[in-house]
Amino acid sequence: MSLVELDGVDKGYFSSGEATEVLKGLDLRAEKGEMLVIMGPSGSGKTTLLNLLGGIDVPDGGRVLIDGEEISSYSASRLNDFRRRKVGFIFQFYNLIPTLNAKENVELSLETVSRDRAANSARAEKYLELVGLKDKMRNFPQELSGGEQQRVAIARALAKEPVLVLADEPTGNLDGRREDSVMRMMKELQEGLGMTFFIVTHNHNLKKYSDRVLELDDGKLSGA
Ligand SMILES: Nc1ncnc2c1ncn2[C@@H]1O[C@H](COP(=O)(O)OP(=O)(O)O)[C@@H](O)[C@H]1O
Ligand SMILES: [Mg+2]
Repeated sequence: MSLVELDGVDKGYFSSGEATEVLKGLDLRAEKGEMLVIMGPSGSGKTTLLNLLGGIDVPDGGRVLIDGEEISSYSASRLNDFRRRKVGFIFQFYNLIPTLNAKENVELSLETVSRDRAANSARAEKYLELVGLKDKMRNFPQELSGGEQQRVAIARALAKEPVLVLADEPTGNLDGRREDSVMRMMKELQEGLGMTFFIVTHNHNLKKYSDRVLELDDGKLSGA
C-alpha cells in the first residue's frame, strides 16, 4: 500500500452564490520517503490539495488514504488527532504564535504528541539548531526577520518527525544559501527518517531536490 492514495478526489467551494470546482477527480499515489514538488498556476488548487492531504479539510467526493487511514471518512475530532500524530505543516505565512518565543513555538507542537517536557525541550533545541537559529531560540516572532520566522515554522513542523510534511512555498522568504541549507536538511530527514514531503512552490530551483515533480492543472495532477 502506498503512503498516500487519493482516488477520484473532488473538491469545490461555494461562496457568494457561486460554485467553483477546484479538484476534479484527482488521483495520486506517493510512497513513504518520497519528496514531491507540486507546481501549478495561482488558483489551481495547490493549497486545497495540501489541506486535503493533511486533514485540514475534507473532499466532496472520492477517497483520501494516508498511512493506512481513510481520513476522508473521519469525523472532525479524529481528523484533529490524525493531524497531531502524523502531519507537519509549513504554512506560507508561518502561523507562529506571537506571545511564545521561538523555542516555545516548537515545544507547543511537540506537546500535542508527547508529555515528556525534557525530551521536547531537547528536540526543540535540536531542530532550531538545524535551521540555524541556535542563538535566537528565546526571541519572539516579532523580533525575528521573515526568513527567521520561516525557519522557526520549518523547525516546528519537522521536530515532530511526522510521517508526512506538507509545505506551501517553504523557502519563499529565504536567500539562495539558506534555501539550499533548508532543502538539504529536509533531504536528510527524508532519507534518515523516511519522512514524505509534499512541497508546493513556484520556484523551479526546488525541483532538483525532489524525486518527482507534479503539475496541478484543471483539477488534476500530471507528471511534469
Ligand atoms: N475557502 C474558500 N472559499 C471559496 N473559494 C476558495 C476557498 N479556498 C480557495 N478557494 C478558491 O479555490 C481556488 C483554488 O484555491 P487554492 O487552493 O488556494 O489555489 P492555489 O493554492 O493553487 O493558489 C481559487 O479559485 C480560490 O479562490
Ligand atoms: Mg496557495
